[in-house]
Amino acid sequence: MSAQQTFLRDAMRRLNMTRDGFSKRIGVRRRALDTWLLPEDSSEYRTMPSIVKKFVSEIIGREILMTEYTQSAHESLAEKIGISGKPHLLSVDQLTRDSLEELFHVSDIMQPIARRQKISRVLEGAVLGNLFFEASTRTRVSFGAAFCRLGGSVCDTTGFTFSSMVKGESIYDTSRVMSGYVDALVIRHPEKGSVAEFSRATNIPVINGGDGPGEHPSQAILDLYSMSREFSRLGKLIDGAHIAMVGDLRYGRTVHSLIKLLANYRRLKFTLISPPSLEMPIYILDSVTKHGHVIQQSTSLTDLKQVDVVYATRIQKERFADEAIEGYTPEFQINQALINTYCDKHTIIMHPLPRDSRAGANDLSTDLNNDPRLAIFRQTDNGIPVRMAIFAVLMGVDKQVAHSMRDAKWNVPSHIGPDDAYFDALLD
Ligand code: CP
Repeated sequence: MSAQQTFLRDAMRRLNMTRDGFSKRIGVRRRALDTWLLPEDSSEYRTMPSIVKKFVSEIIGREILMTEYTQSAHESLAEKIGISGKPHLLSVDQLTRDSLEELFHVSDIMQPIARRQKISRVLEGAVLGNLFFEASTRTRVSFGAAFCRLGGSVCDTTGFTFSSMVKGESIYDTSRVMSGYVDALVIRHPEKGSVAEFSRATNIPVINGGDGPGEHPSQAILDLYSMSREFSRLGKLIDGAHIAMVGDLRYGRTVHSLIKLLANYRRLKFTLISPPSLEMPIYILDSVTKHGHVIQQSTSLTDLKQVDVVYATRIQKERFADEAIEGYTPEFQINQALINTYCDKHTIIMHPLPRDSRAGANDLSTDLNNDPRLAIFRQTDNGIPVRMAIFAVLMGVDKQVAHSMRDAKWNVPSHIGPDDAYFDALLD
């Protein structure tokens, strides 16, 4: 029997599928599958394209992962992550490298749902309260969509104007009242430490969707998940990587959470590039260097040499008065010319978004939009499986998801964005 026959037969056996079911699952015609399963000396034998082999390997890998995860009888991930015995996610300090990688496994299990191939109803009947007291597109909508894709429903409140906090209601009262209405809370609030205050008034899961210049743990988790997927495609490891963070490192909560989360890995080098007044707070630098990582601080993008990742951020103008920022000139913009000058073909360019695309903003340039190194939309897409995983873990249904999946029935485009097919071709 040829290696190709063995591979495909083993895949069908593992998935417990007939040839008809298997050809539909991998999106090929039954006739093509039949030719791949013929003996090599048959005149009708055909070699399976490498992209199909890669896809089948991914499906099998996920199946093995789901089986192992579902059958494991260790301490629950919610217990490992939780804080004071409660299933909250307030800071990346709650995560170790092991629990983080376990969360990545659960995110992998969620991928077929996030890609609209499968559906699940494990959170049927549950209601999420999305309390956003600051502007948001990604965090608010992707947490809401993630909850809905697991079968739950969402109640939103946005801004102080439409909340009774404008009448002087306390965080404690708001949190306790909301806990009687909903089964989990995602909260974004302009004050550092405020989401922790919400969490002390309730026993339902509370997730920090960003507390002022404090933290944004779910963003850091999805950023690192995205980074590890990009690295895996390139055959690289996060251990030993050189990561540049650029922009507003003082008020940017995404970089505060991300650098602390990355500190769980080994032998990292960080190049932190910001205007002089927007440097990373010292207490965060100290917490990273004590793990033995190397940090170089700079005010110039010419220091972007030989980095594996460029993580750009927006200047958080809403967090300080509208004064000019010294050193934030057009030379501070990450654009195609700069990346071509300083970075190699495997450098990954990331940004938590939103980026400020208005004239004179000096944020990540849109002229990189067709550069396959730009991972920003792969990054935002990963917000869904990661946030589904966070809910499933904190609400105790993470081990039920794999067996709850059914096929999605509606038509989905083969690629979500108009440029994604082009990117896939370049990335394979
Ligand atoms: N990355 C991020 O937090 O985006 P939003 O502000 O749109 O939620």
